Amino acid sequence: MTRRPIGIIVNGVTGRMGYRQHLVRSLLAIREQGGVALPDGTRIWPEPVLVGRNEAKLREVATRHGLTEWTTDLSAALARDDVEIYFDSQVTQQREKAIRQAIEAGKHVYTEKPLAEETDAALDLARVADAAGIRTGVVQDKLFLPGLRKLKRLVDGGFFGRILSVRGEFGYWVFEGDWQPAQRPSWNYRAEDGGGIVVDMFPHWHYVLEELFGPVRAVSAVIATHIPERVDEAGRGYPATADDAAYGTFELAGGIVAQLNSSWCVRVNRDELVEFQVDGTEGSAVAGLRNCKVQHRAVTPKPVWNPDLPATENFRDQWTAVPDNEEFDNGFKVQWEAFLRHVVAGEPFRWDFLAGARGVQLAELGLRSAREGRRVEVPELRR
Ligand SMILES: NC(=O)c1ccc[n+]([C@@H]2O[C@H](COP(=O)([O-])OP(=O)(O)OC[C@H]3O[C@@H](n4cnc5c(N)ncnc54)[C@H](O)[C@@H]3O)[C@@H](O)[C@H]2O)c1
Repeated sequence: MTRRPIGIIVNGVTGRMGYRQHLVRSLLAIREQGGVALPDGTRIWPEPVLVGRNEAKLREVATRHGLTEWTTDLSAALARDDVEIYFDSQVTQQREKAIRQAIEAGKHVYTEKPLAEETDAALDLARVADAAGIRTGVVQDKLFLPGLRKLKRLVDGGFFGRILSVRGEFGYWVFEGDWQPAQRPSWNYRAEDGGGIVVDMFPHWHYVLEELFGPVRAVSAVIATHIPERVDEAGRGYPATADDAAYGTFELAGGIVAQLNSSWCVRVNRDELVEFQVDGTEGSAVAGLRNCKVQHRAVTPKPVWNPDLPATENFRDQWTAVPDNEEFDNGFKVQWEAFLRHVVAGEPFRWDFLAGARGVQLAELGLRSAREGRRVEVPELRR
């Protein structure tokens, strides 16, 4: 067995996503399974180089996992010949500058979403990356969730007939930080620091809608900052300047209407933290992170509206679980493996910077729709 080592800068490794999902659950998990196998038997072997601002934190992460390569000097890491990939899971605002530096250094780039704060910047990154001949990728982890994989299977298998609508609920209560610490970083609630639920979630909704149902042609959104003051990690109060809830309607090619609510100010009365209901002429499905259930046309009950009587049936019991039929691995890891095969073996990978830029575009147009109080069409982005 030949090992093909590949140096990967992990910038933002002390953060929630950088540490848990990308370092531990993806890159180190890939090493634990013996690398990523190529058809010729070679195994791609990630060699993480941890990059961040705080030396003590980096050393602590490295020591905990028996890693030896870490630095607070991004330029020095980018100058290393054994580093071929730059990965970014820093706060969104720091991303563009660092990615430009990585492209200039000739590294392939994989990054958390959103690719940039604005469409023009994201598109420019795509163009600069193309011109430099490097390979690019943007995290689109929701596509690899078991629930959504099963939903995609239903779409591909023609279960729905003509799909009419999609309605999604995403969210949970994020504590204000006063009497219980918040479970998300405080920058998420400050517009000036790149926060906001539209910028955070619309890039996800973009690829979920496009890959499962079709391209988004228009968006209408109402946004709110329901909780105007929060308390940060250091216990200091701050004004929440970013949107913490977004109520969006997305018109898709082919006439499908998708309504997706995203909120950090909602208490969960659902089976999962995100759920999508899809209704079609032949059947309907409800998919979450892990589970998916269906109701076919032939077994659809016929409820009759009568508010004078108690409900006569348990509607939730009238659905059937979609079986797994396969093993589902961690979504972040599955996408990392695909990106590594793309870089090392040239395998196709369609979740590139242009795809990421389209996600940024949807967020930007969603915010414009909310600001101007109108429906906004989504023009096609080209290289
Ligand atoms: N794919 C997903 O499901 C998903 C989920 C959450 C967040 N994200 C994305 O991942 C990125 C990181 O989010 P997170 O929740 O891990 O954030 P976090 O606050 O936990 O981590 C941010 C990281 O950026 C570093 N950083 C660099 N410069 C900084 C600065 N000037 N101020 C503050 N921190 C700085 C921090 O040290 C830390 O390592 C964001 O771009 C976010 O949009 C993706």
